Amino acid sequence: MGQTNSSIHIEQRQNVKHAAVQASRSEIYEGPLVLVNRSNPIQQPLSPDKLQPLSIYPLLNELQDGMLLEKSCLQQLVALLEACEGIDDIVAVSGYRSKDEQEQIYASSLLENGPEYTACYVAKPGQSEHQTGLAIDVGKRDSFVDFIAPSFPDNGVYQNFKQLAAQYGFIQRYKQGKESITNISCEPWHFRYVGFPHAEIMEEMDFCLEEYIDWIRRYSYSGERFTYENDTLQVSIYYVPAEAAPSTTVPIVNCDLYRISGNNSDGFIISAYTGKGHQVCE
Ligand code: DAL
Ligand code: ZN
Repeated sequence: MGQTNSSIHIEQRQNVKHAAVQASRSEIYEGPLVLVNRSNPIQQPLSPDKLQPLSIYPLLNELQDGMLLEKSCLQQLVALLEACEGIDDIVAVSGYRSKDEQEQIYASSLLENGPEYTACYVAKPGQSEHQTGLAIDVGKRDSFVDFIAPSFPDNGVYQNFKQLAAQYGFIQRYKQGKESITNISCEPWHFRYVGFPHAEIMEEMDFCLEEYIDWIRRYSYSGERFTYENDTLQVSIYYVPAEAAPSTTVPIVNCDLYRISGNNSDGFIISAYTGKGHQVCE
């Protein structure tokens, strides 16, 4: 795991002893590590203030005007497109979709492509991670781009995009060999923002999101925590199950900065970042 290009910036080491924080039940269903699939449908619609239009980055190519993405996802997508030098050749095909939009896409695919194809490539309404704003379909910029299954070749800037994706917090969500777990066919065009350093860990361990979210349950605040480390910082990762009460007390290890994400099922994943030097992570 080499250089990273996360959105995590630690200006000054503080190694703060954080008190435990309270996480409400609704927070189980929010954050970059939510798992959305057939067994874990969307539980609450995304708050519109989490979204940003792609048009704020005029250099970005959109298949249709008006596309939206979750803010961190969009910021990191732009950084990734610049790093892979793909900003001119890669088009953003589909980002955030409301439940209504997913319903329309599902219904028109059933008509045009039939039930078998649709089951392979289109999630049922309420079960699509496009509804989280954290998923982006990218395609080769061309005179014709297939909306459901855009071409995303395995060479040139497209290959660079794929190779650099994890450093920017993205995973190829539906990979060959994981179909029996994801229930979706291989989609070389669909990338999911999970954030730093989760994408790199998943890549290194060859986990799809279902496997990662399950594996992380073995790590806890009071037991063993998973530690990711690079030249500039250390990250402790652990799982806290949600309590039956309206809110859960989430213990936080000493760190400079922490993030909490729900898993969209039964608890929270804590990422606690500690810098090794004065300033870490660009
Ligand atoms: N293409 C993915 C599976 C979706 O429709 O969410
Ligand atoms: Zn997609």
